[in-house]
Amino acid sequence: MNAPVPDATEPQIAELVRRFYHSARADGELGPLFEAAIGDWDGHLRTVADFWSHVLLGTRRYQGSPYQAHTHLPLQPAHFERWLALFRQAAGETLPPAAAERVIARAEHMAESFKAGLFAFPGRKGPLLAHPVKP
Ligand code: HEM
Repeated sequence: MNAPVPDATEPQIAELVRRFYHSARADGELGPLFEAAIGDWDGHLRTVADFWSHVLLGTRRYQGSPYQAHTHLPLQPAHFERWLALFRQAAGETLPPAAAERVIARAEHMAESFKAGLFAFPGRKGPLLAHPVKP
């Protein structure tokens, strides 16, 4: 695991999460996805703040599995670009530069792994190779 980023604080992390969800819920594409999936907003914001606190400060309150939380959602690749754009903006506005850099890098990396897991073979119905190589 990366070393803690010492200049980030829990209130800044809470503000990052608050600001990100403020714009994500207002977003035409992402808003409806979030509204449909999340019932307990206070609980969700706490969970996500715990996740970023783990990333930045090495705390251990977050015990979840982020990828699993996304497998049942109707996500499209373009949603990730939008998500990252809003997240980069919220991070830049709420965290010191080194901490913003750390969370953005982590989010970008996770977005790539989520996409690899969720969209590896879009629309695939048959075998892996459409035109199998002849022996
Ligand atoms: C297409 C973009 C994304 C959308 C629409 C989205 C949406 C959601 C939703 C609706 C949940 C709640 C799931 C539930 O409670 O059943 C969730 C959880 C979460 N998301 Fe995302 N997400 C996206 C991308 C990302 C990315 C790139 C990250 C990287 C940091 C991330 C981190 C998390 C975390 C940490 C949770 C909490 C998981 C838990 O409950 O343990 N999400 N997301």
